[in-house]
Amino acid sequence: MDIFRTKTVEQSIRDTEDPEHQLRKRLTATDLTVFGIGVIVGTGIFVLTGQVAKELAGPAVAISFIVAGVVCGLAALCYAEFASTIPVAGSAYTFSFATLGEFPAWIIGWDLLLELALAAAVVSVGWSGYVASMLSSIGLDLPASIAGENPVVNVPAMLIVLALTVILVAGIKLSSRVNLILVITKIAVVLLVIVAGLFFVKAANYTPFIPEAVATQRVEGLKAPLIQLLFGITPVAFGVIGIFSAAAIVFFAFIGFDIVATAAEETIEPQRDVPRGILGSLAICTVLYVAVSLVVVGMQRYTELSTSAPLSDAFTAVGHAWLATIISVGAIAGLTTVVLVLLLGQTRVLFAMCRDGLLPRSLATVNPRFGTPARLTIIIGAVTMALAGFVSFGELAELVNIGTLFAFVVVSAGVIVLRKTRPDLPRAFKAPLVPLLPILSVLACLYLMLNLPAQTWVRFLVWMVIGVVLYFTYGYWHSRTAMPWQKTRS
Ligand code: ALA
Repeated sequence: MDIFRTKTVEQSIRDTEDPEHQLRKRLTATDLTVFGIGVIVGTGIFVLTGQVAKELAGPAVAISFIVAGVVCGLAALCYAEFASTIPVAGSAYTFSFATLGEFPAWIIGWDLLLELALAAAVVSVGWSGYVASMLSSIGLDLPASIAGENPVVNVPAMLIVLALTVILVAGIKLSSRVNLILVITKIAVVLLVIVAGLFFVKAANYTPFIPEAVATQRVEGLKAPLIQLLFGITPVAFGVIGIFSAAAIVFFAFIGFDIVATAAEETIEPQRDVPRGILGSLAICTVLYVAVSLVVVGMQRYTELSTSAPLSDAFTAVGHAWLATIISVGAIAGLTTVVLVLLLGQTRVLFAMCRDGLLPRSLATVNPRFGTPARLTIIIGAVTMALAGFVSFGELAELVNIGTLFAFVVVSAGVIVLRKTRPDLPRAFKAPLVPLLPILSVLACLYLMLNLPAQTWVRFLVWMVIGVVLYFTYGYWHSRTAMPWQKTRS
């Protein structure tokens, strides 16, 4: 049994030329950067900033954003090299297929399904929360059973997934236009927070910039971070350690740049433009995050920040509720784009897995009228809707983090492997300092993973075990890599 059979880079690229399974090439570097920002700026900055500043880092939350940004930057350079070498839908999944082999690729694909579907569901729940609070501010209270903190079925969250699924089926270029309008609104609001907020910054709020470390109540059992269980470390809030714990959480705010790589196949000049899209969107977001967090902790003492809507509440606190309303509108627009791009990435990864035969190949057909994988998009939309209707935010976000970090580890390791196994391949973009940089990337991601609760690790492993069973009962036997006579077809 050869579970480490690889699919050659040439084969991956050839597959994309099969007319029946071909995605339309329409996107440019700017489209990709907008897609990137669309999916990166979301709940991380609109919600987590306040929570993390208040509970873990104080004003130094800005440093946590820099730390998380640097970790993502290391992984982003590895993603950029891969995407410029193998411009095929599927991102980390396709990269691992070319380097580590079929089974690791399946594991990564399965992991990405978890990351993307859950993230889309979780963010649409956050979206629903903002919508409910906006409606309530104009006197329209939604019944508690369909929206709000703990609804029986989260109807607005399901409706937003439905609407975005329709847009995605209609065509990638249309999705990209809708996305552009929403991203502009979101960035305008983020800039508004930075510029308007500057007028309310009080220097006194910055001292102490790094509050003194305090021992937090030790979280016992599976809720404790794995690192604590393994090494018996007592969790500490604030101080330098607090900055790093906060970085593990605000990592969520950066998730998304990796998804730009999933659109490689639909890019006109992927070798040049995908690295630009990945690195450009990550750089822009890091600058915005640091600026927003510095302004927000300057406007309000960190101990008083709101944990559910810190950006708008900071303006309410300084007596400008109307600005708070504008910011809520921006948050709603912002979260919409996050869900849109997450759904897009999800369909593309699944598309690649089906096309390889690891899941039913008949699902990977492109609708001739729209040029999109309509059938898969509808399936994903339905699953995400079901998740969005019934899941709640908190712990599932951590599951998203662990899944993403795992993919970063594999991609970073894959860069070293591909340099060794295929030094001949043209690489339009090369990550600097290989193998040092990818090794640092692996270690940094593992460190953040260790900071996640043990219970998240258990859930992650359960999902992975299901994936392994599926591979050995279906994928291995239907894989196209195992059927060399089919390779000549395309
Ligand atoms: N980075 C995305 C967000 O912050 C997932 O919502």
